[in-house]
Amino acid sequence: MKFFVDTAEIDAIQELHDLGMVDGVTTNPSLIAKSGRDILEVTREICGITNGPVSAEVVALEADDMIAEGRKLAKIADNIAVKVPLTWAGLKACKTLSDEGTMVNVTLCFSTNQALLAAKAGATFISPFIGRLDDINLDGMELIEDIRTVYDNYGFETQILAASIRSANHMSDCAKIGADVATAPPNVIKAMANHILTDKGLAGFMADVKKAGIKIL
Ligand code: G3P
Repeated sequence: MKFFVDTAEIDAIQELHDLGMVDGVTTNPSLIAKSGRDILEVTREICGITNGPVSAEVVALEADDMIAEGRKLAKIADNIAVKVPLTWAGLKACKTLSDEGTMVNVTLCFSTNQALLAAKAGATFISPFIGRLDDINLDGMELIEDIRTVYDNYGFETQILAASIRSANHMSDCAKIGADVATAPPNVIKAMANHILTDKGLAGFMADVKKAGIKIL
């Protein structure tokens, strides 16, 4: 499973990239706003850190404007994936931009029907939002399973980019189901390393090292 980092914070991306944990980056208008930076500048800087897909989202709501914005975003770097919302305008923009050879990430997906439409419109990635479904007591992980089943039934090449990931459990559950990509905030990726028995076991080793006076250097 590919790991994308879901943030526009440069330092956080760089730190995980240096550990080999970044296969791509996703941003959205809220993450860009949180960064306080110009979308074109910060996206260009992100593209300089990773060669993997970098999703930059349009802010227009009409298809023709989305297409114009998408073409401008795509010029930033070869690894740009233009992010469009799952609306009919977004699907029209997806079809046009993907036909032009631009990677498209269709976002704000909350149903299998929406995911089917995105695949037929030529989406490179589909972004089902797990956490926001869980927030309203629906089952976000079930959506990932259903899309996996439907895409595999018909050999759709659109990659499932699991998004709105809130926990390390979401990451492992996505991997068990077979999501192609999971995009998560830096803290969630880091939390994947945490286990109380690891901490306990290491403390026990260190106590014995001290007791026995074990030295290597
Ligand atoms: O990429 C989509 C993601 O940023 C949304 O996450 O936690 O705001 O639902 P969240």
